[in-house]
Amino acid sequence: MNQDEKKKKAAEAAFLRVLPSLNKETILGIGTGSTTNFFIEELNKAKVSIKGAVCSSEASKANLESSGIKVMELNEVYGIDVYVDGADEFNSRFELIKGGGGALTREKILANSSKQFICIVDDTKFCELLGKFPLPIEVLEVARSAISRELMKMGGKPVYRQNFITDNGHQIIDVHNMKIDIPYELESTLNNMPGVIENGLFAKRTADIIIQATNSDILTLEKDT
Ligand code: A5P
Repeated sequence: MNQDEKKKKAAEAAFLRVLPSLNKETILGIGTGSTTNFFIEELNKAKVSIKGAVCSSEASKANLESSGIKVMELNEVYGIDVYVDGADEFNSRFELIKGGGGALTREKILANSSKQFICIVDDTKFCELLGKFPLPIEVLEVARSAISRELMKMGGKPVYRQNFITDNGHQIIDVHNMKIDIPYELESTLNNMPGVIENGLFAKRTADIIIQATNSDILTLEKDT
């Protein structure tokens, strides 16, 4: 099975998992990326009847158009029942790196506003010590170089993501070789730097469930509460 086939399998499994709980009051959270797009395909096919969906990007909003689901803003709802999104890396503590698609800030806001966060991945995304995937950080343009210098002092190699502006109008720095020993602490440290909008470490609000597709299986991992 290639990676795309695995992404599709994980998304289909997530859809089957959430389907029985969907009703007219449900607010779904929809992430961003190629794995989530497979989940959106399932929604588009099934024509489910829910109250609405809040999306983490303009791209996902557009993809959801033919589903018949009302696209809502987070400000219009009290919270999200279930948030479904992919990840760039995950570990056994359900901590994640996200933001390869650049939607990390809205993704973290939605995850944080959700009762349940289901992360859909293929097995190539597993990485016990997070950081093989360059860590995305959304920054204010004026602070980009200053933040990059701080990241270099921390041992990272910041690379400005060329020709990319987030849906929030900001730039992204992808940090290579970052030492992420304690993701929870680094997440706060980075967000305390002036000019950082958000970083792609999801260690405070981790996933609750990880649905992982391998060549032979779909594994559903549930975090102990
Ligand atoms: C979007 O900003 C990201 O957080 C995605 O969720 C992540 O990059 C996974 O993307 P794919 O599903 O395309 O691998």
